[in-house]
Amino acid sequence: MKYKTIIEPFRIKTVEPIRQTTEAERAVALHAAHYNVFLLHANDVLIDLLTDSGTGAMSVYQWAGMMRGDETYAGARSFYAFESAVRDITGFRHVIPTHQGRAAEHILTGALLKPGDIVPNNRHFDTTRANVEHRRATALDLPVAEGLDPQALHPFKGNMDLEALERVLRENPGRVPLVMITVTNNSGGGQPVSLENVRGAAAIARRHGVPFFIDACRFAENAWFVRTREDGYADREPIAIAREMFALADGCTMSAKKDGMANIGGFLAMNDDAVAARCRNTLILTEGFPTYGGLAGYDLEAIAVGLYEALDPDYLRYRIRMVEYMAEKMAAAGIPTVRPAGGHALYLDAKRWLPHIPPSEYPGWALSLVLYLEGGIRAVEIGSVMFGQRPDGTEKPADLELVRLAFPRRVYTQSHMDYVCEVLAHVNTLASRIRGVRIVEQPPALRHFTAKFAPLVPGVIA
Ligand code: F0G
Repeated sequence: MKYKTIIEPFRIKTVEPIRQTTEAERAVALHAAHYNVFLLHANDVLIDLLTDSGTGAMSVYQWAGMMRGDETYAGARSFYAFESAVRDITGFRHVIPTHQGRAAEHILTGALLKPGDIVPNNRHFDTTRANVEHRRATALDLPVAEGLDPQALHPFKGNMDLEALERVLRENPGRVPLVMITVTNNSGGGQPVSLENVRGAAAIARRHGVPFFIDACRFAENAWFVRTREDGYADREPIAIAREMFALADGCTMSAKKDGMANIGGFLAMNDDAVAARCRNTLILTEGFPTYGGLAGYDLEAIAVGLYEALDPDYLRYRIRMVEYMAEKMAAAGIPTVRPAGGHALYLDAKRWLPHIPPSEYPGWALSLVLYLEGGIRAVEIGSVMFGQRPDGTEKPADLELVRLAFPRRVYTQSHMDYVCEVLAHVNTLASRIRGVRIVEQPPALRHFTAKFAPLVPGVIA
């Protein structure tokens, strides 16, 4: 590349104003939201990096597709467009639309799991874990050692520990009905999984006769990392890399709210006829008829177009480079992040940044509150609030205390990102004065969404 400046590979056709707030207004809003950024009104947020899920901007081609949406109940043309795109990219025979990723997980775990089972994954995302535990099975994370060290510079920190997988399968015959691998590894820092690792995990699962599924939410970003980091893929198109990956698996669950570039939607896809038939029966009960699965015809069209747009090399180069650029700025400012940079998000390492706050006082959560107070930025804790609550109600600190700044696709520009970097540099000057939080009220599972908190000092900053 001759020039270094990152440009957004699109121009903007429709704009949505964002509202500036004062620090005093944000303090009031945070108090009203019980110190949980999930409970804020989005109107009070300036830069919303809570999630990259369903928050992207659609292209003119997707909007045009939506106008073509066929809202027929059964056999809609839009379903066949959707099915053909998913089949073209994944190669799976059965394509089952769902309203989002967790619905696909719910249906799959319902079809395959029984109480006492074990599901290995490189690292479960929270909804996948909750769905496995809902079936009274164990969600077992098997990350490679490098994945546990935020500072370890390894190109594929999302990889699964294949020796551990082999051991789990050998020691638990008949108790492992499903092996999953999550690309990219969201809970572990948006880190990619190499094709070599997917191939290895698939071979082990196959040898033990266990179905192997990919949680494919960010399959396109993962393909870009494979192209840029794995030997032998530099000249391959992202779509070819994605196809090679899916060909290794028996099926996948997908949230089209990520690399489907859509605001809603997902799917479950697989090759096994009998399991697919069971899943479709549940689908009819919980989501809808198999040719729409809880989605409007126009959603199916948006996904059919979006899946290909997510694989566009110019888009992927810009997207991954943007996150890397943020990580470089953080390193220059002395702010600890998970390294190397992830695909869809920048992960701040709150354990290192705020070593004076113990996990029991939720350092990542406190940091997320300060980002909002100081800059109107909304980010999400991925630490002991999200993962520290065990099904029996006891507490176990998470191994990482991260704060994720997830980037909606094609939404914020370079100057938004520069603003975020400036706020973070300012927060760095306050770091030693940030104090922890305590939980006032919480639900029995997935507590981060609705729990109420209180700061240990007023305003979280001493
Ligand atoms: N798997 C992974 C790896 C995810 O990141 C998500 C969602 C899901 C499954 C579930 O998909 O939301 O469509 O039901 N992650 C969002 C996030 C919520 O913010 O990372 P869903």
